[in-house]
Amino acid sequence: MKHLVLNWKMSPSSLSEARRLLQETEKLDREGLNIVVCPPFPYLLLDSNLSLGAQDVFGEKEGAYTGEVSIGMLKDIGCQYILLGHSERSESEEKIRKKLELVLDSGMTPILFVGDGGVGEEDDHLVTERAGRLVSGLDVGDVIFVYEPIWAISTGKGVVPSREQAERGRGLIRRVDEEALVLYGGSVDSKTVNRYLKFDGVAVGGASLDTEELSRIVDKL
Ligand code: PGA
Repeated sequence: MKHLVLNWKMSPSSLSEARRLLQETEKLDREGLNIVVCPPFPYLLLDSNLSLGAQDVFGEKEGAYTGEVSIGMLKDIGCQYILLGHSERSESEEKIRKKLELVLDSGMTPILFVGDGGVGEEDDHLVTERAGRLVSGLDVGDVIFVYEPIWAISTGKGVVPSREQAERGRGLIRRVDEEALVLYGGSVDSKTVNRYLKFDGVAVGGASLDTEELSRIVDKL
């Protein structure tokens, strides 16, 4: 089973566009592929046959917290996955860890982003150590990791790791657990997706909004 995580980030800009994008994305559903659509909160209520993921959750189970969305609410509306640790959210490890525990306790699946900041091979251990700290003492079998080099996110310029670099990144996370599910994320497009075929799938940002391009990516997975 391959996983295709679609991180819509803060798009599209209207409910009608979101509905259309979701319908187009549903056409890409196929055997052996788990498509996880992660739209902004307001669109999570759209009906879909695909798996749904939220892009964040609040770190407390309940209480009076203005503007926050709880894990219970997300579970109740049928959300099965939660994105955590994305570099665009710039959260501390402590905060990510707290959310991770909450998501696992709820029986939902965390999709945990871990990347490097463009450091050289001599700093490879930083990726392994971060992944290890985040999941230490937890059941890694319930976590989907995304190896996402920070320098490769939404570049729009085809600046992505080579196949060897990407596979090295996957290996760094698998040092934490050799069975860990690891996806690749960072400017995935149809021209470069074949570099990541050894991964358990890919996390797609920008290209998830263009279903023709997305369809070409799916064909190559
Ligand atoms: P991108 O986003 O595909 O636009 O680089 C990926 C991500 O941020 O997860």
